[in-house]
Amino acid sequence: SPGGGLGPEAEADPALLRASSPELARRLRGLALVRGGFVSEGEAAELLREVEPGLRRGRYQSDHWDRAITGYRETERGLRGGAGRALLLRVTPAFPSRRPPRPSAHVLDLLPGGCVGPHVDSVKFCGCTIAGLSLLSPSVLRLRSLRDPQDWLELLLEPGSLYVLRGAARYEFTHEILPDEESFFGGLRVPRGRRVALIFRNDPPGENPPNPPGSPKPPG
Ligand code: OGA
Ligand code: MN
Repeated sequence: SPGGGLGPEAEADPALLRASSPELARRLRGLALVRGGFVSEGEAAELLREVEPGLRRGRYQSDHWDRAITGYRETERGLRGGAGRALLLRVTPAFPSRRPPRPSAHVLDLLPGGCVGPHVDSVKFCGCTIAGLSLLSPSVLRLRSLRDPQDWLELLLEPGSLYVLRGAARYEFTHEILPDEESFFGGLRVPRGRRVALIFRNDPPGENPPNPPGSPKPPG
């Protein structure tokens, strides 16, 4: 069903996705997707109430060691209340069952003039799947192929929408949130206001492989 699951069979809402070519759209099918209206306005308001106190403890920054990002503040300790826990349960099916999302979301607060430049999330710290819920302002997320920069995909992120990046979309493409002056979705101007994103990630394979069922607990 359209709007159904979030697993690898899932499809993006076509009205929210633009691609440099039909071939590219096909290649990233199920790997880069966006769902409008993933949370209701009431849930969005409750989530914001839950994360604002954590955000307010930080100051807005103008750059970051690992990614080109401006006009932002962030926290990792956002999800304490019922709405956050409910959201975590609802995004979990986007992740492989043996690599579930970490229990705390990355909460990223972008000023109207802030943006996230093109980058690939650290393979050292982040696993195969990224799921982001957008709140407050609409924005445009652009993916661009590392190998063939003329190949791109754009997702329109409306408030309350969820996007998922995995596989090639996560590893072989950069992603970015466009700055206000470049914030267009085709011919549609997408004016940027303050945007808060709740971003869920899993752990990379390797250092802490999940224990096979029934295996003894590791020491310590
Ligand atoms: C990031 C990032 C995208 C977003 O913080 O690494 O890509 O949705 N953010 O804000
Ligand atoms: Mn990122």
